[in-house]
Amino acid sequence: MQFTAVNVAKRVSRSTWIPFALARPWALNGTQSTSRAFATTTGARYSRLSDVRRRPYLCVPARSSTSVIQAPQEEKSGVSEQEGDKGALNSMAKPQPVYRKDYKPTPYLIDQVHLTFQLGEEHTTVLSDLHFKPNYQGDSPPEVVLNGRKDLKLQSVKVDGKDVPQEQYEVSEKLLMIRGLPKGPFNLQIETQIKPQDNTSLEGLYKSSGNFCTQCEAEGFRGITYFYDRPDVLAKYTTRIEAPKGPYPVLLSNGNLQASGELSDGRHFATWEDPFPKPCYLFALVAGDLAVSKDSFTTASGRRVDLHIYVQQQNIDRVAYAMQSLKAAMKWDEDVFGLEYDLDLFNIVAVDDFNMGAMENKSLNIFNSRLVLASPATATDDDFARIEGVVAHEYFHNWTGNRVTCRDWFQLTLKEGLTVFRDQEFSADMRSRGVKRVDDASALRRAQFPEDAGAFAHPIRPEEYTRMDNFYSLTVYEKGAEVVRLYQTLLGQAGFRKGMDLYFKRHDGTAVTCDDFRAAMADANDVDLSALGTWYQQAGTPAVKVSTSYNASARTYTVKASQSTPATPGQSHKDPVLIPLAVGLLGKSGQPLALHLQGSKANGSAGDSAVLRLEKASQEFVFTEVPEEPVPSLCRNFSAPIKLEVEGQTEDDLIFLVKHDTDPFARWDAAQRLGQALMIQLYAAAADTSKNGSSSLAERCSAAGGVKQSLVDAFRAVLQDKALDGAMAAALLTLPGPTELQAMIHHADPVTLHEVRKYVVKELAQQLRPDLEAAVKRNDLPASEEYSPDAAQAAKRVLKNKCLGFLAALGEPAVYSMLLQRFRDASNMTDEIAALAALTECPCKERETGLSEFYQKWKDENLVVLKWLALQAASNVSGNLAAVQELQQHPAFNIKNPNNCYSLFLPFVRSPVNFHAGDGSGYRFLADSILTVDKINSQVAARMASPFTQLKQFDSERQTIMKQQAQRVADTEGLSENVFEVVQKSLKD
Ligand code: BES
Ligand code: ZN
Repeated sequence: MQFTAVNVAKRVSRSTWIPFALARPWALNGTQSTSRAFATTTGARYSRLSDVRRRPYLCVPARSSTSVIQAPQEEKSGVSEQEGDKGALNSMAKPQPVYRKDYKPTPYLIDQVHLTFQLGEEHTTVLSDLHFKPNYQGDSPPEVVLNGRKDLKLQSVKVDGKDVPQEQYEVSEKLLMIRGLPKGPFNLQIETQIKPQDNTSLEGLYKSSGNFCTQCEAEGFRGITYFYDRPDVLAKYTTRIEAPKGPYPVLLSNGNLQASGELSDGRHFATWEDPFPKPCYLFALVAGDLAVSKDSFTTASGRRVDLHIYVQQQNIDRVAYAMQSLKAAMKWDEDVFGLEYDLDLFNIVAVDDFNMGAMENKSLNIFNSRLVLASPATATDDDFARIEGVVAHEYFHNWTGNRVTCRDWFQLTLKEGLTVFRDQEFSADMRSRGVKRVDDASALRRAQFPEDAGAFAHPIRPEEYTRMDNFYSLTVYEKGAEVVRLYQTLLGQAGFRKGMDLYFKRHDGTAVTCDDFRAAMADANDVDLSALGTWYQQAGTPAVKVSTSYNASARTYTVKASQSTPATPGQSHKDPVLIPLAVGLLGKSGQPLALHLQGSKANGSAGDSAVLRLEKASQEFVFTEVPEEPVPSLCRNFSAPIKLEVEGQTEDDLIFLVKHDTDPFARWDAAQRLGQALMIQLYAAAADTSKNGSSSLAERCSAAGGVKQSLVDAFRAVLQDKALDGAMAAALLTLPGPTELQAMIHHADPVTLHEVRKYVVKELAQQLRPDLEAAVKRNDLPASEEYSPDAAQAAKRVLKNKCLGFLAALGEPAVYSMLLQRFRDASNMTDEIAALAALTECPCKERETGLSEFYQKWKDENLVVLKWLALQAASNVSGNLAAVQELQQHPAFNIKNPNNCYSLFLPFVRSPVNFHAGDGSGYRFLADSILTVDKINSQVAARMASPFTQLKQFDSERQTIMKQQAQRVADTEGLSENVFEVVQKSLKD
């Protein structure tokens, strides 16, 4: 064994750092549903906190220290290679990437964990008793190297009850190493002290609203005690919690309550036992003063499960919807996947301070309160839908994530991609399947596609990473879910179910890889799915080009498809991937044509669609017996996450598809393409001031043809179609947003682009006014009808509010007062905030009146105040930065609370006018804010920095000033590794 003494005082210059896996620009782009967000039609969107997903934990930056630390150099240590911490031990703060290929099991397994928490206001003591079993070859016991964190205070180390002598262990900021261990199994007892009340990173054990709570995924457990903090070490846990009874009457942990009782000095205890082996990232503890709502669910096999939702007392009347969603999710998983819950108790706890949305800790899910609490007066339809989806998602993890977990964090998409897929399917069954698919596809395009094309592009299963927290990305989650969907599209629902059954049969109780998942799918169906492997290795969005030709005499129709994936940072060579391309053919009158595909290249058919199996760089498919030249409907149901270009597709074809296509996605996509083409064309005219420099943007746009009558007619047909689901109608009426357009126009000026979009919206509003007004009337909820968050009622509201957004763009005083009236009269939050959102985009007095009345009405409701912040921050009224800066000083704004940051800074970034102000003031403000927040919570700050990863998309002037600000952030002394990583990557790209 070789040890190296190193001096940790000097930090290696950051510029020598190796570039890492990516941060999450998607967080800043938002993932609002196309149809449901009560977007104003000018492109500003109200930010829901639900836009903010996947919050990784805070990583504590390595700081100067003078202690001398010795590092194990042998690979056997079992922690350093996988965790990338060796670098932290030996050469100080130069984070080393971890490689997937280097995976090695730990030299010991821990199969039993007994934890005792003595919670206190001064400090908390954690006693950990771990049962170690050898997992090494040979006779000489290797050292144990456990992960820790700088804020752990080690009190004692014992092996089998005896103090370990000083010279037999080493402790550093990030590791504890013990050597001289006995042969065979032994118990290791570690006592540490921590200060949860000072933990502003919200990772590990911390306090929120006076209560203790935990967040351990991905690597937060090491902030509680020294441990093998990695997902392949599965142990059974018992947890004893001791705390003063007055302030902390409720004591919760994973599993079943074994015992509870009084202690001296007004303290009490509870002991919990979790019978299922789990990785430490699923550990949870809650201690506090909480109210509980109780219900129960009887499983298919007749077992009764108690369901408890814990919230702060004042919120106890807002948990019914989450409870109902939980029961629906439990039933759905039994019906669709045959999966039952496995314990007698399932707890959900809502906390106000949470980096992420929610966490699937075994039997003790912890949620950001905004994803639990809902009442018609305080939550929007979107909030309700999001709560339903997230409650289900975390519940579904009980099987996909907890019973079968990940071998290492490279496999994250194994649990997250699969569970997102499952929550998407659940929501589709609860609501409108077509609308859900459109929402998900639209979110992917708007947010994941840019990530896949930007400075942080990475495969759904990365090959290397340095900071795990920068790796909970839209790619791993949303593209990962699309890749899971590919299996279902190829195998059919029944085949997919067979694969899932085999996956659980083989792997229950173990930690596995994405390859194990693919093997189960393949073996259960006796097919070769190796071609899907490339999706796990390649970053970037495949581009597919399709051209078609009809041969009238042979009555054949040929579809020629070619694919290529653009190079991404560090990955220039790309192979073709297997793409199931769902295709339908429509005849002259819009009727679906029967499909006969030559050869056996189809992977099957669904109704009037065929699934073409595209796996080579270029392929041809021939349909026979085609009676007339059809209009093709391609990539139906968004059958693969690709960018599709259809050669020779005319505007008439698109209008035809908007009218006739029975596939909701393809129909919506046709409408999007119409909008895209128009705005790209008008942008060119608007940006070209060379010919008539003194003309206004509107003049230049109308000189270029303005908004075509054909588009107006297509929109009118949607508005007049009374049979159409309102949510689908709203989606069809939503023009492509700023991020999508920005990606399509090389180095576009974002402000001009915004003005063009605004011009189009106003033109449409002028020409469609009577239809918009009629649709508003038709979809107003009759006063006699009670509010319900169900899909049917919500669909009417989303269409109505979409129309109001268009009308607001008219800029008429009469409309402003109508909107203010609607705002005042609203009987639910959806309508109230929609009217206010429309006004917030208009510089009028009603805007100020509405915003101040709203604040007065809701100032005591945290979650509603978030909406108020977000609305103002996203506004495109010019000069709005000053207002946002004032909000930062407002008594309602609490910079320590992640939700507050997400509701102020992220929406601001989505305002083209103010974030991208030509004088650079928006970028400067963002940089200043990142630096402020970084001192409190670097995970939140890193998210705020992700717009910089997209800087290459903008015009060169803006690139220059964005880079200056990114550089200023990068150069700041004491910056966290999290933020540094994001800005560094952005500057390098
Ligand atoms: N396991 C995650 C939560 C998590 C991820 C916590 C990373 C800490 C670090 C959870 O299952 C999750 O994915 N939550 C999402 C919401 C979900 C509906 C996609 C979230 O928190 O945004
Ligand atoms: Zn998840």
